[in-house]
Amino acid sequence: MDVSKIRTIHLSEMKTRGEKIVMLTAYDCPTARLADQAGVDVILVGDSVGSVVLGFRNTIAVTLDHMVHHCAAVRRGIERALLVADMPFMSYKITGEQALANAARLMQEGGAEAVKLEGGEEIAPIVARVVAAGIPVMGHIGLTPQSLHQLGGYRVQGRSHAQIERLMASGRALADAGVFAIVVELVPAVVARDLTRSVAAPTIGIGAGPHCDGQVLVLHDLLGLGPVQKRFVKVYAQLERVIMGAVRRFAADVRSGRFPSRRHSFALTRKKK
Ligand code: KIV
Repeated sequence: MDVSKIRTIHLSEMKTRGEKIVMLTAYDCPTARLADQAGVDVILVGDSVGSVVLGFRNTIAVTLDHMVHHCAAVRRGIERALLVADMPFMSYKITGEQALANAARLMQEGGAEAVKLEGGEEIAPIVARVVAAGIPVMGHIGLTPQSLHQLGGYRVQGRSHAQIERLMASGRALADAGVFAIVVELVPAVVARDLTRSVAAPTIGIGAGPHCDGQVLVLHDLLGLGPVQKRFVKVYAQLERVIMGAVRRFAADVRSGRFPSRRHSFALTRKKK
């Protein structure tokens, strides 16, 4: 999309034109700056920050303070991309007031331009409440990692007839509640295709095949940073190898005295009288 700033409205224009939406996660200022300058349309400060960057086993331990902190760092790195922040576990499902207050913090302190909420039909009233307050909401259905213990692990959703019905109903309920886009995670490609055709809001897939209106990946997965063993991820670089090699050469240089050399040291210069 050829604009100097991506806004939520542009995503539905892209769906109408059949132009794919590119979305990527970022958790810090330098990687957000690179993703923005590379032309990514939407940058998501995902609660995947918990497992990808903070060393937690899953996203459940991620707090609103973590999200605000990382979102503010990402904000400082980007100009063009739309900045979306995940609302973390249990920060929006208790009451509408709680959802509003926490979404407001992500926008005021974190600089987010929209928030993403995991869940379908059951959270549509809360989504409608947040949207009515003037806060753009992105939905997230299919595999919803915050419900990992209820779902029985990270498994493909939408395989049974009942699950497909529930996904379609959730897509419609979220669209009616006013979401500007819906992330669809880990569902069969034909299910994502039918959902994409049946809702007006753009769908953004992850592990959901090629028919969604856009695609999202976790930045570290596509860069080959960390233990990626996901069939749906395409790895575009091997940064783990690059970083390991650089650190090993630095350690060897320090131990052998090759670093710092004269070029990396300062001479004593005296002021003339
Ligand atoms: O937290 C996250 O990174 C996400 C994406 C995988 C969509 O929700």
